[in-house]
Amino acid sequence: MERRILTAGTQEEDKEFEPKLRPDRLENYIGQENIKNNLKIFMEAAKQRHEALDHVLLYGPPGLGKTTLSNIIAAEMGVQIKTTSGPAIERAGDMAAVLNSLNEGDILFIDEIHRLNRMIEEILYPAMEDFVIDIMIGKGPGAKSVRLDLPHFTLIGATTRIGLLTAPLRDRFGVVQRLEPYRIENLKKILLRSAEVLQVQLDEAGAEEIAYRSRGTPRIANRLLKRVRDFAQVQYQGHITAEVAKFALDLLDVDKMGLDYVDRKMLMTLIEKFDGGPAGLETLAASINEDAETIEDVYEPYLLQLGYLQRTPRGRVVTKSGYAHFGLPYYETK
Ligand code: ADE
Repeated sequence: MERRILTAGTQEEDKEFEPKLRPDRLENYIGQENIKNNLKIFMEAAKQRHEALDHVLLYGPPGLGKTTLSNIIAAEMGVQIKTTSGPAIERAGDMAAVLNSLNEGDILFIDEIHRLNRMIEEILYPAMEDFVIDIMIGKGPGAKSVRLDLPHFTLIGATTRIGLLTAPLRDRFGVVQRLEPYRIENLKKILLRSAEVLQVQLDEAGAEEIAYRSRGTPRIANRLLKRVRDFAQVQYQGHITAEVAKFALDLLDVDKMGLDYVDRKMLMTLIEKFDGGPAGLETLAASINEDAETIEDVYEPYLLQLGYLQRTPRGRVVTKSGYAHFGLPYYETK
């Protein structure tokens, strides 16, 4: 996939930059109030009982802070966290080794947990439920299964695709929480905090300008801030005002609602070639030279969230607000 400044998934350039900006305690974590309130209670209760926290499943679009939140949970509980991901665990032995390395109360964080293979997933069932693993020793007729006790640990699973999780796995999580896209006011707070960490001067209006273009996603907000900072440093004595932000983001071709070239092309193609739709996903994909899956996973979610696009049984349709974004008239009788 082409590199896109608005991609919510992690990019190479985020790796150096994100850890510095991540809050390390719950009190510094902005937004997701519902999740924070629930987690505070579950963590307090577990601590009072001197037990490990129940297994937690965090799901929602990329870039909203699932990894950050997991690290915060570990810090708040005062335990170690081991981090891995679904695709990284290739063999049953890898899973057994990770589980066996945990201490009482520790957290095992599995990112992209929907990508675990089934056989490995089955090792997790007794591990999550009864804190044991069954290991096969030897091969052929002489092979036997040995049961090993594990410490009471907490599994935190993160996924962008909860629908792909099997029911038996999903049902073993006591706490299931969905992360929501961030509101402008919270993105502003995150940006102002990040600006402080990066020692760049960002005013309220500048923060708002960047927030609107961040697609509800802190990772994108921070990435845009970093780009705008470069412009500010070279041309504006390091001050980010609304004008500077607007100037820089216009140059980066991120428009006032955070749409980029491909988003606009998709909407404009629907409007110009299909009279606003409906057009089938495959037809639309062919018209803009993208594959259908990329449209569904990468481009559509934000356009749907903004209410610019609708999915109907007959295909994709541009809404009245979608037309309004381009300053185009919308005829109800269409
Ligand atoms: N940086 C990224 N996500 C954040 C959040 N939710 N709160 C504070 N800073 C963040």
